[in-house]
Order: sequence, then structure tokens, then C-alpha cells
Amino acid sequence: MSNPKGTALITGASSGIGAIYADRLARRGHDLILAARDEARLNAIAERLRAEAGVSVEVISADVTNRADLRVLEQRLRDDAAIQLLINNAGAALLSPFAAADPDDLDKLIQLNVTAVTRLANAAAAGFSVRGAGAIVNIGSVVGLAPEFGNTVYGATKAFVLYLSQSLAHELAGAGVRVQAVLPGATRTEIWERSGRGIENVPAEILMDADELVDAALAGFDAGELVTLPSLPDAEDWRAFEAARLALQPNLSKRHPAARYGVKLVEPA
Ligand SMILES: NC(=O)c1ccc[n+]([C@@H]2O[C@H](COP(=O)([O-])OP(=O)(O)OC[C@H]3O[C@@H](n4cnc5c(N)ncnc54)[C@H](OP(=O)(O)O)[C@@H]3O)[C@@H](O)[C@H]2O)c1
Repeated sequence: MSNPKGTALITGASSGIGAIYADRLARRGHDLILAARDEARLNAIAERLRAEAGVSVEVISADVTNRADLRVLEQRLRDDAAIQLLINNAGAALLSPFAAADPDDLDKLIQLNVTAVTRLANAAAAGFSVRGAGAIVNIGSVVGLAPEFGNTVYGATKAFVLYLSQSLAHELAGAGVRVQAVLPGATRTEIWERSGRGIENVPAEILMDADELVDAALAGFDAGELVTLPSLPDAEDWRAFEAARLALQPNLSKRHPAARYGVKLVEPA
């Protein structure tokens, strides 16, 4: 019999935030498809969740920067009617200064944090729209709001995730498909070691546990938030930020430059 909660496909489920999503969604009764490169870790998580939560858990070993692997996940999202939720989470950070960064590393980061996220969201949007139901959760970062933090390309990839989510929510309104962007601050996961910045260098007062982060993200999801900022005490601050952005809209595209530039205007012949 099919599971009324549906199946959640989680990328980057082998550790950190993705592994906690797997745990929480299994306990909510979702069947799971767990994807990442480390199959042994995925299998250990799958075995535990099958035993503890009694849900069905499938493991797909996939490097989402590899097109053939990515296509397998895209195909499932388009064609498997049981999938109702995508947690678009796999990602990495690169913290070296821009001018000193290896261009191939930048390229790889963009493939992981932008290209794979976009293609998976695209496949989910297509499948969910046809089926008239589903939700896409994209894991961004507060760094995408803060160019001053100095994580140039990582931050830019996460700004992309926020824009993609907001724009997609607009486009899919009415199709029965929900979108949420989750913007974690510093979170206690392996991402720090993997990016070469020891977690011991992150001040404890700004470092959230991944369990708390995911529980807050799910509370934001349940509350219908489009953008969830787990650290932000006052939701009104985000609404004011959005209102300031929207206030620009009537003046973003005009027949002539603004008078303050003193440009000589060209009238049609
Ligand atoms: N931790 C933070 O401070 C923080 C803050 C803001 C946003 N985030 C975002 O949260 C998300 C999850 O990161 P995390 O903090 O939980 O870090 P993490 O523990 O390092 O987890 C990253 C996950 O992505 C998977 N992954 C990495 N490269 C992959 C690839 N090429 N193909 C498939 N899977 C890949 C990893 O699994 P395998 O190695 O097994 O493939 C792992 O499961 C990322 O998008 C990150 O940018 C994290």
C-alpha cells in the first residue's frame, strides 16, 4: 500500500543537515530516498531508520556533480509519483579568498551548489506540477545575504539558491507545489572540516547544532514560510527587508535613466 505521507528524496543525506532531515522525516512517517556519494554511510543511516521508524528507505549512491548520476535522480523526481518532497541539500563550502582560489575548485563548487541544485529543482518542479502536489526545500545560507563575510563564491551560490527559491515559489503558486528556502547560519557539521576551516575557529555563540537547525527549518516549513532563517529572532526584520526590496520594483526598469545621472535624453526620431 502506498504511504500517504509520500516519499522524501534527500540529497547530501550521509552527514550533517541532510542526515538529520532523514531522521526527522522518517519519524514523521515519510518513506525516504537518500542520496550522497558515501554509500556505506547512507546504508548505515537507512538501516537504523528502517528499524527505528519502520519506513521504507532506499539508498542511491550519486555524485551530483556527475551528469550520469544526476540524471538518475532527475529521472526519479520526474517519474516517481510517490515522491512528494525534495530536500535539495547536498553542498559544500570553499573559504579561500577569491583571487587565490583555484578556478577548477570554483567551477566544482558551482556545479555542486548551483547546477545540481537547479537541475534537481527543475526535475522536481516538472514532476510535482504534473502531479499537482509536492514541496521543494532548498538549503541556502545566511552567507548569501552577507557579501561582507568574505566567502565570495560560496555566498554567491547561496544567493542564487535564495533567488531560485523565491522565483520558483512565484512561478509554482497555483500548481500545488510549495517551495521553502532554508538559510542556516553557522551549523555544527562536517562542512567546516571539509572546507579546511576547523570548527574550533567558529565562535560557540554563533554555532547551531544541526538537530536544532533542522527542527526549526521543519517548524518554518509547517508554518508555510517561503524563507526560513532559524537564527533570526524577529520575523518582522525579514518582512521589512523584503518590503524594502519590493519598494524598488516600480523603478527598476524605465524608458530613461534617472535624472540624477544627468544623461542627455534621446527622443525617438
Ligand atoms: N554547516 C553550516 O554551517 C552550513 C551553513 C549554511 C548552509 N549550509 C548548507 O547545508 C547543506 C548541508 O551541509 P552540511 O553543513 O550538512 O555539511 P556536510 O555535513 O559536509 O554535508 C554535506 C552533504 O553533501 C554531500 N555531498 C557533498 N558533495 C557531494 C556530491 N558531489 N554529490 C553528492 N553529495 C555530495 C555529502 O555527502 P558525501 O560526501 O557522502 O557525498 C554530505 O552528505 C549545504 O548545502 C551547505 O552549504 C551549511
